Amino acid sequence: MTDKTEGTYGSVSRLNHWIGAVLFASLLIVGFILSYDVLPDEQAGEVRNLHKATGTLLLLFALWRVTWRLGQGFPAAASDRAGWELALSKAVHGAMLLTLIVMPLSGILMSLVGGRSIDMYGLFTIPPVAEMKDLARSFRAVHGYAAYTLAALIVLHIAGALKHSLIDRDSTLRRMLTGQSAS
Ligand code: HEM
Ligand code: HEM
Repeated sequence: MTDKTEGTYGSVSRLNHWIGAVLFASLLIVGFILSYDVLPDEQAGEVRNLHKATGTLLLLFALWRVTWRLGQGFPAAASDRAGWELALSKAVHGAMLLTLIVMPLSGILMSLVGGRSIDMYGLFTIPPVAEMKDLARSFRAVHGYAAYTLAALIVLHIAGALKHSLIDRDSTLRRMLTGQSAS
């Protein structure tokens, strides 16, 4: 099955991109709110459970999204670009796809090896597999570093999309929004 019209993103890729963008950005914001401890304890507990359950589902989504992208490949750039620009956009896209897997995976591992279960919206519970606090702390650190990395990549990514729209005036953003590729 192929979803790539010459030089653009097909509907599956666009759905993957925008659903993923909204969900990952939301979980990033919720995660930072939790870690800055601004919520009352009771509320924080509920929000943390929702963060964990939704993040766990996002691992499945991320695996699907990355598999789809690798299977389809990336379409060629929408307009002529300098070598450094091509390399930067490839590096940012690749690093983002990697962090989309690392974020939920590190979250799941920090819970399950830290002796904590994951409550899936009250439907069922994923039980802990071990109680290795040091290892859990390492996964917690990975989760935090990956979160700041993803947030920085998203800022760079949006700046790149704006540059293409406002300065280059090419079809980079349009083809991710509508699938139309002509400049
Ligand atoms: C799928 C994407 C996910 C994203 C984008 C995300 C994002 C974040 C962020 C930004 C933080 C704050 C990091 C810091 O400031 O150090 C955080 C904390 C946390 N995340 Fe996630 N997370 C995800 C998945 C998960 C999963 C699957 C779990 C567990 C099953 C999880 C459990 C936690 C916990 C326990 C914290 C600490 C909260 C606190 O300080 O009270 N996360 N997450
Ligand atoms: C307002 C927010 C966003 C805008 C305007 C935007 C725009 C775009 C555009 C125009 C492309 C195509 C680039 C090209 O063809 O060279 C793209 C690709 C991509 N974007 Fe975004 N994006 C946004 C948010 C996000 C977020 C939050 C993530 C990650 C969670 C993300 C991850 C990706 C990835 C991995 C690609 C590579 C192609 C793919 O697999 O989808 N984007 N984005």
